[in-house]
Amino acid sequence: SSANVIKSLNLPTPEIKVIRRKLNGYVGFANLPKQWHRRSFKQGFNLNLLVVGESGLGKSTLINTLFNKELYKPKEAKAAAEEKTESVTIKTTEADIEENGVKLHLTIVDTPGFADQVNNENAWKPIVEEVNSRFDQYLEFENRINRTDYQDGKLHACLYFIEPTGHSLKPLDIEFFLQVHKKVNIIPVIAKSDTLTESEILEFKQRILADLKLNNIEIFQPTVYDNDDEETVNNTKDLINTFPFAIVGSTKEIQTKDGRLVRGRQYPWGVIEVDNAEHNDFVKLRDLLIRNFLEELREKTSKKLYEEYRTGKLDKLGIQQDDTVFREFDPTLKQQEEKALHEAKLSKLEADMKQIFQQKVAEKEKKLQKSEAELFSRHKEVKEKLLKQVRQLEDKKRQLENQRLNAQAVDSTPQPTQKTRKGFLR
Ligand code: GTP
Repeated sequence: SSANVIKSLNLPTPEIKVIRRKLNGYVGFANLPKQWHRRSFKQGFNLNLLVVGESGLGKSTLINTLFNKELYKPKEAKAAAEEKTESVTIKTTEADIEENGVKLHLTIVDTPGFADQVNNENAWKPIVEEVNSRFDQYLEFENRINRTDYQDGKLHACLYFIEPTGHSLKPLDIEFFLQVHKKVNIIPVIAKSDTLTESEILEFKQRILADLKLNNIEIFQPTVYDNDDEETVNNTKDLINTFPFAIVGSTKEIQTKDGRLVRGRQYPWGVIEVDNAEHNDFVKLRDLLIRNFLEELREKTSKKLYEEYRTGKLDKLGIQQDDTVFREFDPTLKQQEEKALHEAKLSKLEADMKQIFQQKVAEKEKKLQKSEAELFSRHKEVKEKLLKQVRQLEDKKRQLENQRLNAQAVDSTPQPTQKTRKGFLR
């Protein structure tokens, strides 16, 4: 690679002049209202982006470069926090960015640990689960009666970083693509393309495209509308012909020989400019992802990828569906499906509730039996106590009776009575 060439030639390290100044800030999403004719401008837009690739391929740098914002901390700060994880993890970063009054809510789903394991056989699994779970959440939302206030979490695109080896795709790349290509719009990019020469890049691109074709892997292709104006048609064709984009990321501003300030990477022979279409495909990637095709990415996600997922899911539940993908044209069918799905859910709920009810009844019965036994023993205790009291009272009664008899015996001995006394007095 060119970096190795510098090393082997023992050239002095170039003095990099980095000038800190606010970047011109162009990202491209101010163009979004033009894409969303039907949506309200005020509501803002959202992009949910999945980012996958081996560590160190410049993913964080590219995301920061794309959105012109430090969404990810520089490598040094990250290093301590991100020791190699045991498995692939899912990390979500959200940000609200604004350009010329247009708001974009950005969700970046990062997958640290991908391809870093000793055994990468199932590295795709947690990622597929994440994609599915976001579809499931949406499916659940669709079946809700009250459908307000929902942030759609479906992933609109997957930016996949290919290592700039110059050879071909790796088995893991292919396996990953096969696992997700029916579920998310794949945008493969050749990472750190400044480490390859121009001819190496061209050859590498051809090999990658051949590998994709051989394995029947579908990547995102913007639609060419023949009735569009010539410039748009040519631009779109140009994007497609440049696939897969060979990109360079950098948020550093560097001064070129002719005095311009550009985002780029400095080399002894000059500067590689990020935002220069002659130097790399970054601008094309930005056009595809944000500026011109974000709506198409979103539409394809919800009308095709999500619909296919949904159909598959309903099939599993045993609910028959029509083959048409664009179901919204048949509201009755949609209603029927929703009803069937709802009923399937209800019957599951009912079964669950029945089980819980039976469990509760059993618990209650056990409790009752226990308290009955307790009551019985308490009753016995009280009864014994009362019997004892009765016996004591009877004893007392007898004693009193005896006392009374004794007293009567004393009374029967002759005593001067009132009467006799009266008689005596008379
Ligand atoms: P993890 O967070 O470990 O997954 O890495 P990452 O893929 O996010 O890579 P990161 O952006 O942290 O970049 C890793 C190193 O590559 C840093 O030193 C970057 O400066 C450098 N780098 C990023 N993009 C490019 C590029 O386009 N070309 C070159 N030559 N180096 C780059």
